[in-house]
Amino acid sequence: MGYYYLYLLATLLFVFGIKRLTNIKTCQQGNRLSEIAMTIAILAVLLITAGISWLVVIAGILVGSAIGLVIAKRTPTTQMPEMVAALNGFGGVSSALVAMAYLLIDPLLKIDGTSLADSGIVNAISTPATVIIGMVTLTGSFVAYFKLSGKKVAHPLKGVQRHYLHGCLGLVAIGMGTWMVLTGNHTGMTVAVILLAIVSAALGVFLVMPIGGADMPVVVSLLNSYSGVAGAAAGFVIGNPLLIVVGALVGTSGLILTQIMCKAMNRSLGNVLLGGMGEESVAKDAKDYKSIKSTSPEECAMLLEGASSVIFVPGYGLAVAQAQHIVRDLGDLLIKRGCNVRYAIHPVAGRMPGHMNVLLAESDVPYDQLWEMDRINSDFKSTDVVIIVGANDVVNPAAREATGPIAGMPILDVDQARTVIVIKRSLAPGYAGIKNPLFEMDNCLMVFLDAKEALEAIVKEVKELS
Ligand code: TAP
Repeated sequence: MGYYYLYLLATLLFVFGIKRLTNIKTCQQGNRLSEIAMTIAILAVLLITAGISWLVVIAGILVGSAIGLVIAKRTPTTQMPEMVAALNGFGGVSSALVAMAYLLIDPLLKIDGTSLADSGIVNAISTPATVIIGMVTLTGSFVAYFKLSGKKVAHPLKGVQRHYLHGCLGLVAIGMGTWMVLTGNHTGMTVAVILLAIVSAALGVFLVMPIGGADMPVVVSLLNSYSGVAGAAAGFVIGNPLLIVVGALVGTSGLILTQIMCKAMNRSLGNVLLGGMGEESVAKDAKDYKSIKSTSPEECAMLLEGASSVIFVPGYGLAVAQAQHIVRDLGDLLIKRGCNVRYAIHPVAGRMPGHMNVLLAESDVPYDQLWEMDRINSDFKSTDVVIIVGANDVVNPAAREATGPIAGMPILDVDQARTVIVIKRSLAPGYAGIKNPLFEMDNCLMVFLDAKEALEAIVKEVKELS
């Protein structure tokens, strides 16, 4: 019984850990607290469970930790969303396997004539639910993984036919689940759970296939929430209160993040899930520009010489170029010359929530220079120079149109500044794959270079001018 206090301690540490993750100043502590909580949780489970084969457990911990360490060390920040998607999938399948193992191993269920329904309503609902949600999370997450890695994964059907297919698979899954719960025959139960896992896996693939373009972040955070729900359901299956609480924490926090992201992109969850921004909607004229003015780092330095307010807008290209240190060097140089310098942060800039905050925190940009979109948007019209570093969709005025792939997505109103400098390597589109009319505006100058290279050259020129 005493070990259950460890469950309580782990739960409290998880709650405080998540709370601390909500603030950039305390997020590292939040991570540490959650790591300690997870260690306590694992120890508590091992101490409570009787008849453990310690050799197997220790071998599992060593192999798992080693794989995790290698993946974490090798994954660049630009590929974090893919990694998060894959880890969500593993979380989902672990819960599904726990439920399947319970069903196949439990000695009571092996007695002929005893069905899952006989073990109570909680088990009768949570076991098939864990298998369905866990398997949907597994395959949906891996489709998201491939899409985020740039692979084309198209749905074989179009329009309403897709919904019929998804509806049919859902009905078959419910049928299999009901059979699994009601049959008193162990072989029938085994066949039913395997079929249920296969049908749910297919459902996960088809559900995520039609979702594309800029909607992927929302899907990944929704799948994260599903992995938590699957964990909580698995907690009911094996009667583990810690798994129920932690699963519920992941499920609800994932859902809140999903809602925040939908709001940031001005999309409803239903709209995202029914696939409004698939590959079909990508504009064909993405590179079709008429009047582009390009400029050099020397000219940029001269413009900055006369500027009293500068706003940097970082985007995905900052992460690719690893230009977070040099952008801060330029910012510091300008501040020394008496310029007001800020960094405008769009909620979905980059490829994961908080991507820009993480990068700029890495280069020690003071928190008070990081301004969220809602707070800084009204200041662009009184700003001398905006420097866009590898951002595209988050500053695309096409979002203000009534229709189009990013219609309605809130953007940073950079076009209202006196001068806009865009640093990117070419006229290639951003993640949503569409043309950006900002590049053709009168007040916009393009620097066609890698972000790090361009900023290093600008820093050199600014230093020479002083
Ligand atoms: P994007 O619209 O993807 O644009 C990034 C731009 O960076 C590209 O146009 C690219 O142009 C440029 N770039 C790439 N490498 C560069 C380099 N080495 N140096 C300079 N420029 C470089 O990025 P964004 O404005 O940050 O918008 C984010 C997009 O990703 C949104 O559509 C969002 O919905 C989506 N998304 C977001 C997330 C989250 S949660 N943040 C997750 C997945 C997807 P060149 O190739 O011409 O250089």
